Parts: sequence; C-alpha cells; structure tokens
Amino acid sequence: MKISPEILNLVPYKPGKPISETQREYGLSTVYKLASNENPLGPSPKAMEAVKKALDHQNLYPDPSHYDLLQTLSQEWGFPTKQLAIGNGSDELIDLLTRIFCEPKDGVLTSVAAFNAYEVSAPANRAVIHKVPMAEGFRFDLPAIADYFFAHPEHKIRLIFVSNPNNPTGTYATKQEVETFLEKVGNRDDVIVIFDEAYNEFVRASDYVSAQKYINKYKNLIVLRTFSKIYGLAGFRLGAMIAPAEVVEVFNRVRKPFNVNDLAQVAANAALQDKEFIERSQQTCWKGLDYFYKKLEELGLPYIPSQGNFVMFDTLRDATKVNEALLRRGIIMRPLLNYGFKTQLRLSVGLDHENEAAIKALAEVLKEVPVLT
Ligand SMILES: Cc1ncc(COP(=O)(O)O)c(C=O)c1O
Repeated sequence: MKISPEILNLVPYKPGKPISETQREYGLSTVYKLASNENPLGPSPKAMEAVKKALDHQNLYPDPSHYDLLQTLSQEWGFPTKQLAIGNGSDELIDLLTRIFCEPKDGVLTSVAAFNAYEVSAPANRAVIHKVPMAEGFRFDLPAIADYFFAHPEHKIRLIFVSNPNNPTGTYATKQEVETFLEKVGNRDDVIVIFDEAYNEFVRASDYVSAQKYINKYKNLIVLRTFSKIYGLAGFRLGAMIAPAEVVEVFNRVRKPFNVNDLAQVAANAALQDKEFIERSQQTCWKGLDYFYKKLEELGLPYIPSQGNFVMFDTLRDATKVNEALLRRGIIMRPLLNYGFKTQLRLSVGLDHENEAAIKALAEVLKEVPVLT
C-alpha cells in the first residue's frame, strides 16, 4: 500500500477524553469533563426548542445554500451573505481553506503552541507547517511572524493562521499588534491571513479587537468563528467564516453540498438570537475563571490569565502524572504534551460544582505527585 509520506507522518489532533471512556476505564459513575472548552450550561435553550421542532423533517436533505442561517448571520454580524460561509465546525473551514490556497509543498505559517488543527490540516493537504516561537508570556509574536514571512520567500507561505485569543494559552494579540501586523501582511496577493476567533465572545481585555473590523480594508483577510463555544453547540459541528466574497465563492464550490446538517443550521440560527444565553454563558465563564485564578494562586501554581473559557496553568510537576491522578478522581483536564508543555494542563470552566470538584481533586493530587526539581 503506497501512502503519501506527509499523511504517514501526520500526527493526528488529540481531542479531550470523552466522559464515557473515562467512566469505563476508571470504573467511575461521576466524571466531570473540563477538557474541551465546551459550554457547561448546555446548548442554548432556544436552539434546543428549534431543533425539537425540526426533527420531523429530517427525512429531507438540509438546505445546501444555508439560506436562513446566512440571513441571520448577516443581520447579527453586519456583513452581506456573499461574505459569509459556514462549515462542519471551524475544523472544516481550516481544512478546506488549506486545500484551496495551498499547492503541494506550499507553506502554512503560525506560532509555536497555536491551536493544533492548523498543524494537522497542513500535511493532510500536502502543505508544510512553519512555526515561529512565541513571545514572552506565551503570546503570539506577530512581528516575528511577519518577519518570518518576508525572510522566507522560498517556503512559499500561502496561509498565516493567528488564533486570537489562542488556545491552549488563552493569550491574545492587542488591537495595536493586530493593526501593525495587518499593515505589513495585508492586501497581498500571495498570502491569506486567517484570524481564528473561536473565543472572541469571552474576551474581557479592553485592548482586544476582532479582525472582522478590517475585513473590508484587507482583501486577503479571513475571520473564523465557531458555534462550539459560547453557543454551546459543539456536538452539532458548526463554524462560520467572514471573508472576501471571492473566497466565499470558491469555498462554496469546494465544500460538500450538505456539509452542515439541517439540525445544526436550525440550532445555530436560534442560538445566534438567544442573547440571554450568550450573556449567561459569558458570566459563567468569567466567574469560573476568577475562581480558578484565586484557587490556583492559593495552591501556588502559576497560570496565564486567559481571554478564553479555559486557563492553562503550570502544575510544576510531570503533568502526565497529575492528569492520570485527576482522571482516577473523575476529573478530565487537558494534557498539553502535544503542544510541548510538559508540566502544564488546560482547565475549561465548568459549572460551580464542577469547578470546585476540579480544584479539590487538584489540591489532593498535588500532594501525591512530587514537584519537579
Ligand atoms: C482556536 C480554536 N479554533 C477552532 C476550534 C474548533 O472549533 P470547531 O468546534 O468549530 O471545529 C477550536 C476548538 O477548540 C479552537 O480552540
């Protein structure tokens, strides 16, 4: 069997451990999953109501043009529908954009410790990933990324991915940094700049800006959003893209006609308009983060203040061992070895009782696993 070397060497994305698997493996009935930055409140109630009503016509294919959802997106986000597209999670958007813009051996540029999907989609589409080290504080080094792009024409970099805020670090690029970066790499014909803003709605930093503000200023700029986080629809698989009309047109040619199923379209349409739920989700996130910060400080564990719905912290120990001991206590956090972090874990905000259980278990485990010297 001949398989292309890029695919053979591809390291797959490692999702959070499912609750059912953890229950089975550890013989536990109660397991809390705080590993995948999901919305602990469940799906938007308005979305659930709409989905129940839509169940009776699931014998029919979904609307391949995504008409209703695009209309609502257009109203909510203020872009014409020809600049909007949706995919089967932002995962699909990331993958197809790589396929569309990269020829074999072309380069995809991002940061070290950026969201891992860019690194998976590049080789899957025969492209080559290039990563620039982070700046101090685990932040995207946008000036260094721009410098790398200009210094390496031989890499034929066609895509630059910036996750803002970034997962797993929770750090963000400021408005000033984003503007300076776009002035350098914006409006070029040879590269597309993609801002992945999956956590945009959770940001509290006053100097953050969504790159959607600059969509009409730079013809090579794309912004990605997801319904998996604030809208609580991760299981439905739905991501959205704001882009130049030409990009949307090409994307719609390449994507599968029924890439987003009917229930996902219906759910997202209702969730977009569920303002009460969005606000409640933000409050839950911020309250949970503040609780984690306080408790991590009490436990003496360094953490990075986060603009997402999760926090990355340093266990000061072998994180694999800490994680294993947490799993035995029914707490699923996210190990970050695949990002090169050996002592850190990522903890997603849950409901109050889940957050408390996670911290209680962590405090116990810290006594069990020795500090690395
Ligand atoms: C930065 C970032 N982008 C995209 C995604 C993927 O979202 P989706 O569920 O829409 O594929 C995630 C999910 O964790 C993420 O952290």
